[in-house]
Amino acid sequence: MDDLIQKAAADLAQAKMVSALTGAGASIESGIPPFRGKGGLWEKYDPMEVAHIDSFIQDPVKVWNLLIKDMKDIVDQAQPNDCHKGLARLEELGKLQTIITQNIDGLHQMAGNTDVIEFHGTFAWQRCMECNTHIETRRVDISEIPPHCQCGGILRPNAVFFGELIPQEALWRSRQVATDSDVMLVIGTSAVVQPAALMPVVAKESGATVIEINPESTVLTNDISDYLIKGPAGDTINRIMADLDALL
Ligand code: OAD
Repeated sequence: MDDLIQKAAADLAQAKMVSALTGAGASIESGIPPFRGKGGLWEKYDPMEVAHIDSFIQDPVKVWNLLIKDMKDIVDQAQPNDCHKGLARLEELGKLQTIITQNIDGLHQMAGNTDVIEFHGTFAWQRCMECNTHIETRRVDISEIPPHCQCGGILRPNAVFFGELIPQEALWRSRQVATDSDVMLVIGTSAVVQPAALMPVVAKESGATVIEINPESTVLTNDISDYLIKGPAGDTINRIMADLDALL
């Protein structure tokens, strides 16, 4: 494990273009539950029932009550953890250029990263299904469910539901970033949701070193990742940063 931490620090020190792909595991230490595995949201709910666009259109009250209301409470209060802070420092050091995140919690930006591709959109804003007005989630009055826009339309998170396309710009830029990377850190994602999970594959095919940080192995571990550092995101990033500081 210590060897891999040192190796990651050395790989980062040498790289010219570093990117990160993050998933729910990066935000677990901020109190946001993951989707899969122990304590995951999809243990409690069927994603096709609460996170598919067809379910939302059919019954927005149910989806708001089961999922979005709780998520609003959790995300409103969440603060960046050591993983987010470490990645922000990595950018400050001129080492990390871009984060591609599947998370919708805005914690990378809150920590200070300036180039964050929100692959699955953002929970920071709600948008009106009628007139497309965007309203900051923390300003949305949820005393009535579903909340409405002034025009009378129903508000929905400005995030991607299952059954919807990835925002074109996010997809296009992510592919470019993956292609250009010398090192891609893949942090806290089960890598089972496409097309996000394809980004490390694109990076690898383009010659990047793919470093996974996750307490568990994933579908990428054997075939795509150069190595897996088994551990929680915050502690692992802290240890890599300490070794990197000694090298720079
Ligand atoms: P998942 O919930 O599928 O996976 C979370 C990953 O985090 C797992 O691989 C865990 O082993 C790992 N993990 C657990 N604790 C960790 C820790 N302390 N530090 C680091 N990693 C840890 O989350 P995602 O891969 O992000 O999409 O899920 C991808 C997409 O599926 C989400 O964006 C969402 C979901 O359905 C949509 O809703 C469209």
